[in-house]
Amino acid sequence: MRDEVERHIDGLADEDLPAYVYDLHALHEHTRALRAALPERVELLYAAKANSDPELLSALSEHVDGFEVASGGELHHIRGHFPGTPIAFGGPGKTPRELAGALDAGVERLHVESEQELRLLTTLLGDRTVDILLRVNLPLALGPVALAMGGQPSPFGLDPADLDRCLAIIAADRRIRLRGVHVHLASGLDATAHLALADDVLAWARDWAHAHRLALSEVNIGGGMGVDYARTEQKFDWPAFGAGLQRLLARHPGLTVRIEPGRSVTVYCGWYVTQVLDLKRSHGQAFAVLRGGTHHLRTPATKQHNQPFRILPVDAWNRAWDRPEAHDEPVTLVGQLCTPKDVLAHRVPVERLRTGDRIAFAMAGAYAWNISHQRFLMHPAPAFHHLDHAPVPAASHP
Ligand SMILES: Cc1ncc(COP(=O)(O)O)c(C=O)c1O
Repeated sequence: MRDEVERHIDGLADEDLPAYVYDLHALHEHTRALRAALPERVELLYAAKANSDPELLSALSEHVDGFEVASGGELHHIRGHFPGTPIAFGGPGKTPRELAGALDAGVERLHVESEQELRLLTTLLGDRTVDILLRVNLPLALGPVALAMGGQPSPFGLDPADLDRCLAIIAADRRIRLRGVHVHLASGLDATAHLALADDVLAWARDWAHAHRLALSEVNIGGGMGVDYARTEQKFDWPAFGAGLQRLLARHPGLTVRIEPGRSVTVYCGWYVTQVLDLKRSHGQAFAVLRGGTHHLRTPATKQHNQPFRILPVDAWNRAWDRPEAHDEPVTLVGQLCTPKDVLAHRVPVERLRTGDRIAFAMAGAYAWNISHQRFLMHPAPAFHHLDHAPVPAASHP
């Protein structure tokens, strides 16, 4: 945590908590380094689903080649904020209205997920053209990953058996330009695993294009760059990944590779800051009850991990009774919800934790607020602070 972030948190009143604090300086630095590690022929899209906070997007827009969206809502949001920025529209189950909206908005790429979607597209085009990638669920071995979305039966992308029929539809419709293929098979891959997958995907795409006499100019190898919530210093190795892609590209002249990471881009810039409201013992175990909870930060519940955190001690205590505290023992950090699933970190050893101390949960910049069940129990929403920017009032936040 940078000093500036800590100072900012110190300046917040208890009633201003919980709050999301986004370190835009850190985001700039991280994304700049990430971009610099990639070869020129690799285009970087940011997957907006990870966090579509407008100020984060605005910081990112200086470093990325465009945004990947997965719904009409995301499309509208990104187009509204960044009228000229390239957008790739992917995701399963696009409605006719969403597809028509994408054509009206002039999306740069449409990632087609099924034969039915392709047929639907032909009915909506009118006299327009569209550049597409076919998203394919290739039968590739993934090894251990956090979240598999392909390489096995899944609702995502086209089964290879459907490809010939799709090619026939495209061949019969001059309005549809097939640029290449899209493959997003998993989340949580390290650089070595992602490169091995990219190698297989590019080789498959080359052979497939050759067999069908297609001139493919682009392969999107997806996102899914791994993030380690247990060993926070263990980051995805972007320099090794960039160097590896450079070697792969040398074997595929003329091809542009696209990537669309989300989590690995924004996760580190976000802090969810809160306060210990109560510290109690139950059947011999210590529990710290925090302002807020998994309705603001659902990630540890869905991914079943301990959200990493720092204790920010607050020495002031002006109550008439002894301050409840835990010493040299494991503590479970829970929220205010009436469910045993409202756990942010389970039995983590602490030196000292007291009622009134603050907790800053790290790695809360991706799939955090925006994937949470925010209205459950109707507690107040957190405030949002963007360092070096004015806080965005909770009510007007998307
Ligand atoms: C098609 C697609 N692209 C990109 C992403 C972003 O993945 P990540 O945030 O793991 O990088 C996802 C996530 O689900 C996805 O489904």
